[in-house]
Amino acid sequence: MQIGRVLITREEIETRVREIAGQISADYADRNPVLISLLKGGFIFLADLVRHITIPHEVDFITVHSYRDGFTRSERIEVLNDLKRSVSGRDVIIIEGIVDTGHTLSFLERMLEDRSVRSLRVCTLLDKPSCREIKVPVDYVGFKVPDVFVVGYGLDFMERFRNLAYIAELTSAAAAPEEKKSETAAGAK
Ligand code: IMP
Ligand code: MG
Repeated sequence: MQIGRVLITREEIETRVREIAGQISADYADRNPVLISLLKGGFIFLADLVRHITIPHEVDFITVHSYRDGFTRSERIEVLNDLKRSVSGRDVIIIEGIVDTGHTLSFLERMLEDRSVRSLRVCTLLDKPSCREIKVPVDYVGFKVPDVFVVGYGLDFMERFRNLAYIAELTSAAAAPEEKKSETAAGAK
């Protein structure tokens, strides 16, 4: 298992996160939005984002599992951990780590709209527009990335590499079973 080239550095992420936080603060002044972090991939992004948001807001978390292991894509989606409070009548912003096919977001949007939110926007650190299978509007995008599997800053490959402070490409060697067996903690550094 190997970390390939760094696509987005820690410094680039920091700068962009501040910019997006500034935009959200301007767009949602006096609206006390609820920022919903999609776990687990969105947790670091949310934590950094809120520290630069200057307006009153709330946070909540939802775990939606899309049945995919590593590189495999699947459309079966299930809520594993739901929101703790009602979002009826609220201005909601979904905070996502990466939008790929769009299936996860599309599912979540339908679910939240059924709960009568006042407004709904999507904020994602990364967007892979070339992989989209369902059209979903994304309102705040940190960076567009090409069709490669990326890890770091909350995003994992089989639960690893979320701790990287940057976004890196995972080399395809990671998919080989022999490579997985020989993986060590040092490989994540
Ligand atoms: P979608 O439903 O295909 O848009 O998938 C979104 C979810 O797939 C994200 O929340 C991630 O958990 C995961 N995902 C998609 N692409 C990547 C990637 O390149 N690296 C890590 N996770 C990814
Ligand atoms: Mg994952």
